[in-house]
Amino acid sequence: MNGALTDEALTGLPGVTDWQLVRGGGQDTLLVAGPPAAARPSSAPGRDDDHTADRAADAGDAAVRGTDPAALPALMRQLDETALLTMARTLDRTRLFRDGGRHGTDRILEALAVAPRHAWIVRRWLRTLTAENRLHLHAATGRYHSLAAPDRREHARALRELDGACRGLGYPPSMTRFFRAAAERLPLLLQDRASLQEVLFPDGETGTARGNYRDSVPSRWANHAAASLIAEEARHRTSRGPLRVLEAGAGVGGTTGTVLEALGDTDVDYLFTDVSPFFLRTAKEVFGGRPGLRHALFDIQADPLAQGFEAGSQDVVLAANVLHNARHAGRALAALRELLVPGGLLVLVESCQEHYQTLTSMYLLMSPAPGEQDWFTDLRVGQDRVFLTAEEWTHQLDAAGFDPLPVLPHEEHPLAGAAGQRVVAGRVGADAARPDTGRVRTALADRLPPASHLPRVHAVDRIIRPTLPTGAPC
Ligand SMILES: C[S@@+](CC[C@H](N)C(=O)[O-])C[C@H]1O[C@@H](n2cnc3c(N)ncnc32)[C@H](O)[C@@H]1O
Repeated sequence: MNGALTDEALTGLPGVTDWQLVRGGGQDTLLVAGPPAAARPSSAPGRDDDHTADRAADAGDAAVRGTDPAALPALMRQLDETALLTMARTLDRTRLFRDGGRHGTDRILEALAVAPRHAWIVRRWLRTLTAENRLHLHAATGRYHSLAAPDRREHARALRELDGACRGLGYPPSMTRFFRAAAERLPLLLQDRASLQEVLFPDGETGTARGNYRDSVPSRWANHAAASLIAEEARHRTSRGPLRVLEAGAGVGGTTGTVLEALGDTDVDYLFTDVSPFFLRTAKEVFGGRPGLRHALFDIQADPLAQGFEAGSQDVVLAANVLHNARHAGRALAALRELLVPGGLLVLVESCQEHYQTLTSMYLLMSPAPGEQDWFTDLRVGQDRVFLTAEEWTHQLDAAGFDPLPVLPHEEHPLAGAAGQRVVAGRVGADAARPDTGRVRTALADRLPPASHLPRVHAVDRIIRPTLPTGAPC
């Protein structure tokens, strides 16, 4: 942390009327905004992005034809109900709530011996079980009581019956096994005495995760819609040379395969990136021979330019189920915008709604790293949550300088509410009055003591300030 970055040093920088200092992530970052523009001129004159979004929605629908969308909410609810039983059963095994016991959060965390980094998950369980009337909170004392928990048999039956719901949702059988294995190991996982990575990627095998991110009905819909947006981009571009796509957090390639298929024989320079070398190795095995496919390490938290990427070098940036990992969404979006050409397209696939199943499985992968000081420093600060709503993403894109496209599936689509996987896209908006980051850096270098580390500087259209929680998270 750079102590020289005081309010005094940061006030009155050239062209800057508002700013936000984002601490953490290895390097302080300064987000700078200019005077508010009356209205942004169109970033892509002649493009009908509403029509493009409609075509993408059609592609999503076509990809899940044969499944009954009306049946999905009940199947998702069955997964949620099973997760509620799992949370209740795990709490019940502490015996704290037997014989009328009443306990505060700290005592519950202690009885479960939860690793500090996973404490947020248990706090979320307590709120969820209370909201679902399976646990009660005595507001005056902050103590929980009267847990309604299943016995071992009831819980085992619910876990067995997961299979039908998972099949209906298009998950491979290995995903059902994963949900069950995570439920059975929860106490150990919460204590960091077992790792969810080992359950999800047994012996380094990636089929289970690929089934989740590629084959499930919500993923299939979202991936095909995202792929359609990118293929349309290829069809409509006027510049020469290959379509340059950078995929961030590409992981097991659940979305990559669908996008490459939709691009067909389009001339493409597709940069498959992830923060983990493990995924680059497996991608080489899976997509090895695809012409135009390259691989690179890329951390969405760190400055892309410092990682060797060039400003304005990409036509499309795709990030499927990764951007919620950014500790500050505004900083990550501003950095991704700088990678794109003017009018370039950002496509996100994001979980915009919490499913309880996540609370007993995938959330264990989203906790802060051991010893990580600042977790989320954006609008999620102090809220024990990872996902942003579709409305929050749209707001974030707009503030970071994108013209948002309609979020898909549209609100009234059965998959929008039931599954929560949404495609959030935006086009780099015309530069209304963003400060020149070069001038800002030069001014900062003049003001700070000679040996100071300069912060990263990103220009945005608007600063979004977190509203501090009032005690009732999201
Ligand atoms: C939920 S998974 C990815 C889903 C991916 N689309 C797929 O099909 O596998 C999240 C991915 O984001 C990557 N990731 C996590 N933090 C990251 C970061 N800071 N920068 C880049 N990638 C990151 C993980 O390594 C993982 O591959």
